[in-house]
Amino acid sequence: MAASLALPGVSSARIVKATGPLKKKKPESALVVWYSQTGHTERYGRLIARCWGKQGLSVDAVPMKRADRSLLARYDLIAVGTPVQYLDVPPNVQDWLAGVPSIPGTGIVGYVSFGGKGDGQHNAAVTLLDTLTRRGGVPLGMGTFGNMSAYPPTWSMGYEARTLAFRDKPDQATYAQVRKLAADVLGRYGRGRGIEVKDELSVRGLFKGGISRGIAKATIGRHEIDPGRCIHCGTCVDRCPVGAIDLAVPRVDTRRCILCFGCLNNCPTGAHEMTVFGRKIYSFAELLRRNGITLLEPPELV
Ligand SMILES: Cc1cc2nc3c(=O)[nH]c(=O)nc-3n(C[C@H](O)[C@H](O)[C@H](O)COP(=O)(O)O)c2cc1C
Repeated sequence: MAASLALPGVSSARIVKATGPLKKKKPESALVVWYSQTGHTERYGRLIARCWGKQGLSVDAVPMKRADRSLLARYDLIAVGTPVQYLDVPPNVQDWLAGVPSIPGTGIVGYVSFGGKGDGQHNAAVTLLDTLTRRGGVPLGMGTFGNMSAYPPTWSMGYEARTLAFRDKPDQATYAQVRKLAADVLGRYGRGRGIEVKDELSVRGLFKGGISRGIAKATIGRHEIDPGRCIHCGTCVDRCPVGAIDLAVPRVDTRRCILCFGCLNNCPTGAHEMTVFGRKIYSFAELLRRNGITLLEPPELV
């Protein structure tokens, strides 16, 4: 359960801790579920799944879109991962979490991937655990893993260096951190001991989510689909978490859009045209290509 600790004038910190025991002495089954736009959160999730699988657990690892929430209570252990966006858990992930049924005694893990130095990742991970603990889950671990940011306006406005400073991330140390989280969680499960986590208070945190997204949206000049380049592959429609894209026209409903850049970052032909302060925005894949960067894969997944 999450209690609230009020700090007048600043914000309030959530404290998340277990309210009941785990349903088993030892976990036999686990689910790892993630939301991922450019692959980082997925990679960490697959690595956690691989680590648990090696320890003899029967593990399902699936993107959030394909995870059947009605089956969650069947698992002994569940890890949920998301990127932090606009200092918060993205709205579509919050919607998914809101529909999670009661999962009493299920061990839970929340992990978040973030870009660059990172901002908001800790509290985003607390949000994951908070929501799942309210459903009866027992918090067993929390992780925040850093990599290159996949936020296209940064490099498109000419600040490539800010993103490229992290071109070597994720590295072996990042993956060691992921494996450690997976191992620590099993250790805690065996000891029947949950963790206690709380928010980090910051003034910037007051601008998380909608406010921050609204400010970013005000800098975007246009968002259109070039009919000459679009090959109607449907990738953007599949990636859009809020159903804002109609390829028949083709058109993007920019009011509905949550500015996640999943369409632009994944379009194979560069058909999504967006501008920021009048400059053309280009994708994460294009940034990697232009700078000859190949992201490191954990050896277990190659
Ligand atoms: C729309 C958007 C907003 C972002 N906002 C933040 C943020 O507030 N703080 C942060 O540390 N990283 C931020 N990032 C960077 C992502 O969290 C990071 O690139 C993440 O690892 C992407 O995960 P994925 O590859 O699984 O989609 C943002 C990226 C995008 C695309």
